[in-house]
This record gives sequence, structure tokens and C-alpha cells, in this order.
Amino acid sequence: TAQQLEFLKDSIKSVPDYPKPGILFRDVTSLLEDPRAFATTIDLFIERFRDRGITKVVGTEARGFLFGAPVALGLGVGFVPVRKPGKLPRETYSETYDLEYGSDQLELHRDAIKPGDVVLVVDDLLATGGTIEATAKLIRRAGGEVKDAAFVINLFDLNGEARLNALGIDCYSLVAFPGH
Ligand code: PRP
Ligand code: MG
Repeated sequence: TAQQLEFLKDSIKSVPDYPKPGILFRDVTSLLEDPRAFATTIDLFIERFRDRGITKVVGTEARGFLFGAPVALGLGVGFVPVRKPGKLPRETYSETYDLEYGSDQLELHRDAIKPGDVVLVVDDLLATGGTIEATAKLIRRAGGEVKDAAFVINLFDLNGEARLNALGIDCYSLVAFPGH
């Protein structure tokens, strides 16, 4: 409901001049600290994606783990982490991507996604969409289908949603803020 979404928005603290002067940082850790806000977030994701044929949830290191793992439990499917380089012990696929503040690499266990898997990607925040574009590429290389991504926050004027839509990914987000 609109009231639940307003409550979630209010639970997210805004930090001026982080990580650099002029940036107003939306800090999702304050939402996590509030058990009612955290539970509401996870319930809304589960409600939306239950009975949609999802077979795996993928969360991207680090903040995607915090929301992806409980959503996987709620949907009754496995959780698969996408990680920063060198952290996964088995054979991986690797993708380089541009970040809001730099560039990085992400990896996925090759055998964690099977052809025919229908994957929901979960992350805390959508900015430029680079992180989730790289995540979706990894899943697709492994043979998985990615049609949906869920976010707590969408920094809507950074146009990540249009970028992901162009890749055939629908974006579901709970709270919108301007990104600059
Ligand atoms: C943040 C955030 C998203 C990503 C969004 O992650 O958690 O994953 O940026 O930006 P984008 O849409 O422009 O790619 P970050 O890389 O800062 O790392 P963290 O999750 O490990 O904190
Ligand atoms: Mg992240």
C-alpha cells in the first residue's frame, strides 16, 4: 500500500556529501535496522514474485545479499550469489562493468544456474543499471532466463530502468529518489 511505501521511504536516511561532496547518499542500512521496515520490504518482494515461476534468486555482492537471500527463502527457491573477483571457489563466468564511482568485475559459479532456470535478480538500489546488466549477462551465459529485477530504491533520473528494459528486464522498485 501507499502507506507501507511511505513508511519504507522514511526509514531510509539521507547522508549529505557521501561518498563525495555534492552527493546525497540514500543509506539502506537504516531500513535494515528497523525490523518492521525490513520485514515489509521482503514481504512486498515475495508477494509480487510468488507464483511467477521463479526458480532461483540472484543477489549481487554485497548489498544484494541482504535482500536477495530472504526473498529466496520466502519464494522457496535457491539463492545464488554474484561476487566480486576471486571469492568463488568453483569455475566461474566473469564480467567487467562500469560502476557509478569506478569500474569493477563480477563473477558467478558456472554450475549454479541451469539452462531453464527462471531467475529473479534482487539488489538494494538501481542507479545506472551497470551492476545488474553485468549480473544479467552472467546469468544468461550460464543459460538462465532473466526477465525481472527487484530493487528497494530506484534513483530514477539515472535511467537504469530504461537500460535494463532494453535488455528485456522489467524493474520492480519500492521507493524512488532523484539521483542528483
Ligand atoms: C551499489 C548498489 C548497487 C549498485 C547500483 O553497489 O548496492 O549494487 O551500486 O549502481 P548501478 O546501478 O549504477 O550499477 P556497490 O557497487 O557500491 O557495492 P556494494 O553493494 O558492495 O555496497
Ligand atoms: Mg551493490
